[in-house]
Amino acid sequence: MNLIKLSAIDSTNSYLKILAKETRVDDRTVVIAEKQISGRGQMGNGWVSKEGESLTFSIFKEFDELFADNQFIISMAVSLGILEGFKPLNIPKISIKWPNDILSANKKIGGILIENVLEGSRVKHSIIGIGINVNETVFTNLPQASSLKLQTGIDFNLDEVFQIILKSVFNYLNNLSEIDFSEMKQLYQKHLFKGNKISVFENPNGFRYNGIIRGVSDMGELLIETENTAIKKFQLKEVKLIY
Ligand code: BTN
Repeated sequence: MNLIKLSAIDSTNSYLKILAKETRVDDRTVVIAEKQISGRGQMGNGWVSKEGESLTFSIFKEFDELFADNQFIISMAVSLGILEGFKPLNIPKISIKWPNDILSANKKIGGILIENVLEGSRVKHSIIGIGINVNETVFTNLPQASSLKLQTGIDFNLDEVFQIILKSVFNYLNNLSEIDFSEMKQLYQKHLFKGNKISVFENPNGFRYNGIIRGVSDMGELLIETENTAIKKFQLKEVKLIY
């Protein structure tokens, strides 16, 4: 593993993206920043973090034999890696909110931004950005957000949390070809935030469905049981979930 530590950067994902365009980046390069000036989230949203309280890092991972159709396995591996990493830290009631949010007692404590570069029908490499709210105690205008500290009352050592999560995520990413897909999907679904009644809006602010999350398809689509009991499949860009 190759670790690059930065004191400040716009976004660790953007940094790796540009670096990979300009030069050859080694597989398993990790970039961590003490401060992100314009962190990016999913769906073009921003990601706010606080120096000394949040973890913001990105992993550059190459793949030899990963078909684009199976790219959801990256999201599953990273989510499960983070969950596994949280175990020894005793974070309460951890779940995965599809597709890439990590919750503790239904509050968001972490987010993942995966940006895949395809070559033909394969994923060449992926830039996997991970943001974890560690010691924050104040979130302005983010009612669903929380931190490890708020959820446990413990003041964490940022570097220790980083080392634990990184090791655990690499445990999954390094062994992707040996991991049984259906077993992994089962585990992912076990930890999926599901069963609750939710509303789904087809973007942009289109038709509204009320339903219950039942799981994910092999392609990573969200499976929602709608009011007329039909199971409907949704892709990330189609839906905005309102809980
Ligand atoms: C989300 O929940 O919307 C995803 C948030 C991902 C944030 C991380 S922080 C490190 C990396 N760099 C970024 O600009 N974003 C990701």
